[in-house]
Amino acid sequence: MSVFMGKGIVKTALVAMVALSVAFSIQAKAEADLSAGKAAARVCGSCHGIKGIANVPSYPSLAGQSAQYLAKQLRAFRDGSRNDPQMTAMAQHLSDKQIIDISGWYNSLSACKPGVKK
Ligand code: HEC
Repeated sequence: MSVFMGKGIVKTALVAMVALSVAFSIQAKAEADLSAGKAAARVCGSCHGIKGIANVPSYPSLAGQSAQYLAKQLRAFRDGSRNDPQMTAMAQHLSDKQIIDISGWYNSLSACKPGVKK
């Protein structure tokens, strides 16, 4: 009996965790203010392109990329778990809200065609 109860608790906890992470991702998307994101990303355009398509091969294009992925990378640059001399400096000044807005804005842009050589 106790074995079954134990499994039940684990199952309940897993269901709760999945529900929470879904809730968080929906919230992150709903909260993005695209025009604020566009304004905050103006300084990023010199490297990543005005519309998120970079012209220099060492700078990644961001247009159309998943907002969740972009936000995760920006937080990683900000907290130092991902390190790049240029990006670490750029991300250090971003607030949580700006990260969500910027990520949502880049996600809303049209991506470059697959296979574009750069
Ligand atoms: C001086 C040039 C420069 C500027 C300005 C700049 N970046 Fe970057 N960014 C880079 C480089 C270089 C990389 C690749 C880093 C690496 O190789 O890890 C990068 C990577 C990224 C990534 C990760 C992309 C991926 O596919 O993993 C994100 C997200 C990003 N930048 C967002 C921004 C935002 C938002 C801004 C403005 C606040 C900005 N960048 C400003 C040069 C720049």
